[in-house]
Amino acid sequence: MIEEISIIGGNGRNGEQEPVRSVKFKMGDVISIVGPTGSGKTTLINEIQLFADGFTPTKRKVLVNGLAPLQEYREDPSKNPVAAITQHTNFLSDLPVHDFLTIHAGIRSSSTVQAEGIVTETLSFANQLTGEPISRDSRMTELSGGQTRALLIADAVVIGNSPIILLDEIENAGIHRTHALDLLRKYRKIFIFVTHDPYIALLSDIRIVMRKGMMVKVLRSSEEERTLSKKIRIVDDVMHKLREKIRVGDQLMDEDLEVAI
Ligand SMILES: Nc1ncnc2c1ncn2[C@@H]1O[C@H](COP(=O)(O)OP(=O)(O)O)[C@@H](O)[C@H]1O
Ligand SMILES: [Mg+2]
Repeated sequence: MIEEISIIGGNGRNGEQEPVRSVKFKMGDVISIVGPTGSGKTTLINEIQLFADGFTPTKRKVLVNGLAPLQEYREDPSKNPVAAITQHTNFLSDLPVHDFLTIHAGIRSSSTVQAEGIVTETLSFANQLTGEPISRDSRMTELSGGQTRALLIADAVVIGNSPIILLDEIENAGIHRTHALDLLRKYRKIFIFVTHDPYIALLSDIRIVMRKGMMVKVLRSSEEERTLSKKIRIVDDVMHKLREKIRVGDQLMDEDLEVAI
């Protein structure tokens, strides 16, 4: 059982030792990785997925429960406890959503009744993440970017039951992030977001700041930021409603923006 993972710091792009020497994530933690383009965010999450052991250019090491991770995590994809979702991740399937999920759930469950329950939970999870409802009969290849991302996340969380989930810059993909965080918090996992979304960053337990290929700072949200996140949520929900109105062809009114903050 994975209880925690640690990243032992290595070096930045120019060989300099990175300021953060180690950082630990526990089950149930939400982590954000922030920093400008090219600062090493994707590199860091790739190393988590690879269970780097000093063999990458950064020389970082990833420990599981304080020890070197099992070799099989790296060698056998079905044993890797990490699921990664990026802008480019896609389903390679043309099946209807329901059939695809049933096959996937069938591999993981002991009975068809159990599999059906998991499929229903996955679809309802995905539909809470995206504003565009996914029907069980839609073909996988016909899903929009937002629907695909929502289904990928739901699939990794519910069916895959992966203990560690990495999400690399998925914010502009039509995911309802305020709902997403509430939902994800119900599952005891390690969620690592590469994000610049203030709401996700402020509600994370740990915020890692990247620069020049290095982990330069580990921040925890201040009281002020926690309070601020509640206001950001209101703004976010308003923006979501505006988008919805535009999407269904309504016209916006001044009062749509009258927010109590
Ligand atoms: N510590 C490091 N040592 C060497 N190369 C690095 C390091 N961190 C990042 N890089 C390289 O820098 C480039 C940008 O990193 P990347 O992780 O893609 O940044 P980001 O995702 O923040 O845009 C990549 O080519 C990556 O291999
Ligand atoms: Mg990147």
